Amino acid sequence: MKRERFAQNILMLIGAYLLIAGAVAGYLLLSGRMTAQTDPFNPELVALGKEIYSGHCAGCHGVDLKGQPNWEMQKPDGTFPAPPQDGTGHNWEHSDRQLYDFISEGGAIFAPTSMNSNMPAYKHQLNPREIWAVLAYIKSTWPEEIRKKHAATNFVGGFRHH
Ligand code: HEC
Repeated sequence: MKRERFAQNILMLIGAYLLIAGAVAGYLLLSGRMTAQTDPFNPELVALGKEIYSGHCAGCHGVDLKGQPNWEMQKPDGTFPAPPQDGTGHNWEHSDRQLYDFISEGGAIFAPTSMNSNMPAYKHQLNPREIWAVLAYIKSTWPEEIRKKHAATNFVGGFRHH
């Protein structure tokens, strides 16, 4: 009797282990597929993103990705200067998906009523692959530490505070 119980417990333990291992493997596979399209270690993607960045984004966010001066200070017209994209700002607090949506849809639809946005929508100028590519380029300029924080942000789905 006792021995049977023991065998049962072992089986349950193995079952629980397999369930957890399966869930973790599934998650890694899915998140891997998500981030593959905006992989900052893919040189081809990053090169394409860099080209797009200099053509469409550098005018506001800077050739050096440092953004505009006093980017955290709201201007009298309710807009903000363009924030840095080199990891010194706070875009790592948004998941890949949120950053994609921000670039695709523009800042206006995410802005609270107390602010006006100067961030244009790019969905009519850039296709999805190009938007993921420009994001890959941006992330490729981030220090390792910021990329790690951003991976954690991706894990929980990101925060919204614009
Ligand atoms: C006309 C100026 C302008 C251009 C051009 C522009 N941006 Fe922005 N961007 C802004 C401003 C201003 C903000 C701050 C948020 C807001 O005002 O809505 C912003 C915010 C962002 C954010 C939000 C994340 C954060 O830092 O908190 C991302 C990501 C971003 N821009 C990427 C891009 C990319 C990629 C391009 C080119 C494809 C681009 N921007 C072109 C002005 C611009």
